[in-house]
Amino acid sequence: MKVAVYSTRRYDRVMLDRANAAHRHELVYVQDALSVATAPLAEGCGAVCVFVNDNVDEAVLEALKTLGIGLVTTRSTGFNHIDAVAAQRLGIAATRVTDYSPYSVAEFAVGLLLAVNRRIARASQRTRDGNFELDGLMGFDLHGRTVGVVGTGKIGRIFASIMRGFGCRVLGFDPYPGAEFDGIGQYVPLPQLLAESDVISLHCPLTPQTRHLIDAQSLQGVRQGAFLINTSRGGLIDTEAVIDALKTHRLGGLAIDVYEQEADLFFQDLSATIITDDVIQRLVSFPNVIVTGHQAFFTAEAIGQIMATTLENITAFERGVALSNRVPLPR
Ligand code: NAI
Repeated sequence: MKVAVYSTRRYDRVMLDRANAAHRHELVYVQDALSVATAPLAEGCGAVCVFVNDNVDEAVLEALKTLGIGLVTTRSTGFNHIDAVAAQRLGIAATRVTDYSPYSVAEFAVGLLLAVNRRIARASQRTRDGNFELDGLMGFDLHGRTVGVVGTGKIGRIFASIMRGFGCRVLGFDPYPGAEFDGIGQYVPLPQLLAESDVISLHCPLTPQTRHLIDAQSLQGVRQGAFLINTSRGGLIDTEAVIDALKTHRLGGLAIDVYEQEADLFFQDLSATIITDDVIQRLVSFPNVIVTGHQAFFTAEAIGQIMATTLENITAFERGVALSNRVPLPR
């Protein structure tokens, strides 16, 4: 099948070409993100393949429908960028990568926590400058601390297990609790988790219910000096409220791999341009904040699996067999 693959970078092309040897689809690589303006680039294709910052809203889906596109498949677990209801109405199938190394994201979240708590990135910058001073680099032992995990799905559970290995007490919140979490941690209501946790790590999807889960109001209930880690989706956090909480020391540290306005910034080299987003510029100016550019999934194992599943989704669609990785409709 001829497929327009949006938002591609060099590593996408290399890994997709490798995985495609077993499928032989005709892949048309597009560097631009999908939008109403770039949808016509999929003319002549049967499917489009997208990534997390592509816009697959109703208007884009309607544009794709007029081109005869029958499948939108995303190279991600997260699917908040796809309007699944509109896709269903238009008869466009939507698939995703349901399962790929959840270790990649969970391990990265632990890495962010260690880096921000122990000021590792800052220390590395200092030693490169010949500065071996320790002042300002003091962290805290994780052993014995309470870690709150919001969303105890695949990634959240692995993160929780690793934190148990550090000797932490683990609390979890999930509106759909799972028995697999028993033995790792204890479920509590969200306000209790926020009030008791020294570290809060977000592992739930972005939905209308979880948008700005962390906002000015919920931050009032957060334990003084808590660290917040977000490897899930930027929209879970009201960034301006978090900046205020950092200024008042309500939050003792922040490490994020995702950012609400990331679509205009991430996956590009903007180092020679003037960045006009004052919010991200303010965030990176804090000594107790780490920002990475949506790289938690970026391991060889995860990318290999993402590309393999993406091509399997396209092949299943082409053959007309049941699609096992459909994007779910809102509950
Ligand atoms: P999953 O579907 O296995 O787990 C998500 C959990 O969140 C489920 O247990 C669900 O019940 C829970 N949940 C739903 N609504 C909630 C709410 N209101 N409050 C608390 N929990 C809620 O998903 P998985 O694989 O663990 O991924 C989690 C998230 O990680 C994804 O939705 C995605 O946004 C993000 N992600 C980020 C990546 C990165 O590179 N930074 C890569 C992959 C995923």
